[in-house]
Amino acid sequence: MDRKKFIAMSSLGLAAIKWPNKSSIINKPIVISTWDSGMAVNEAAWKILSSNGKSIDAVEAGAIYIEDTINCCVGLGGYPDRDGIVTLDACIMDEKSNCGSVAGLEQIQHPISVARKVMENTPHIMLVGNGALQFALENGFKKEDGKLSSDADNAYKKWLEKSDYQPEINIENKKNHGPFAPAFFDDGTPNHDTMGLVAMDVHGDLSGAVTTSGMAFKVHGRVGDSPIIGAGLFVDNEIGAATSSGVGEEVIRICGTHTVVEYMRQGYSPEMACKKAVERIVNRDTQKASGIQVGFLAMNKKGEFGAYAIQKGFVYSVKTNNENKIYTSKYIL
Ligand code: GLY
Repeated sequence: MDRKKFIAMSSLGLAAIKWPNKSSIINKPIVISTWDSGMAVNEAAWKILSSNGKSIDAVEAGAIYIEDTINCCVGLGGYPDRDGIVTLDACIMDEKSNCGSVAGLEQIQHPISVARKVMENTPHIMLVGNGALQFALENGFKKEDGKLSSDADNAYKKWLEKSDYQPEINIENKKNHGPFAPAFFDDGTPNHDTMGLVAMDVHGDLSGAVTTSGMAFKVHGRVGDSPIIGAGLFVDNEIGAATSSGVGEEVIRICGTHTVVEYMRQGYSPEMACKKAVERIVNRDTQKASGIQVGFLAMNKKGEFGAYAIQKGFVYSVKTNNENKIYTSKYIL
């Protein structure tokens, strides 16, 4: 190729790519979380962020908080699978692309902390099932009794009457108990299917964490997007980070959060990057998408954030030095 042609092609390519302006970080520290229950999660993370702590410690603290929340569809209080067993998925990722993950973990209170131990104490990224449990016990985690919470037990008994396996859209806005847990129980306790959070600390470093009991009444052994790096969570400290909530199978099909981060790399805002990922799901099978919910939530290196969902009803929580609020996501269908 002659030199003139090469220069012409190179400048055309550069013109097409809008790189984020990394010199203008405008919003740090910051933490964003899926759902309105993310408000309390953000508070737990903020204690670390506001005292100049690291984002990896902040996101773990946020996830630990929700895993301890009774009756939440995260942690041991979550809904069981169709065999009546609660199986937990979690992952964590830091600014250096270190990451750890557990899937199908039973009877452990804090899967997020086991995921962090996988990240820090093993050469691996993901441990599953009995192997994850064995690793947790070897690392000092206590085995809990495996009993369902009273709400999960009631919901499971009700589900057994019909054993219906269809996900309900935005069940989080309804009072009945379907395959996805409602946003709030009648006593006001927050209750969502997945908690994903992303934080940037005062040093400008990004981390993320996800924890969930997964899709309620799933087939025993089913793993969703949440513990899969690039599906339920992805962090690239040069560009941004993203997390997801909703029907994990559809997120996995498009490597959802990796896709969102790659759109941000191309210069899209967090909201537009999430929208383009949601469009991939909707365009693949619009009829199927009309029956499910998926929401993506993202932050870029400037501390700008945004979300997009298939359906109405996805909300997320944001905490910075200037705001502490719940945002409603835009949606496609
Ligand atoms: N997004 C949670 C799951 O599908 O398990």
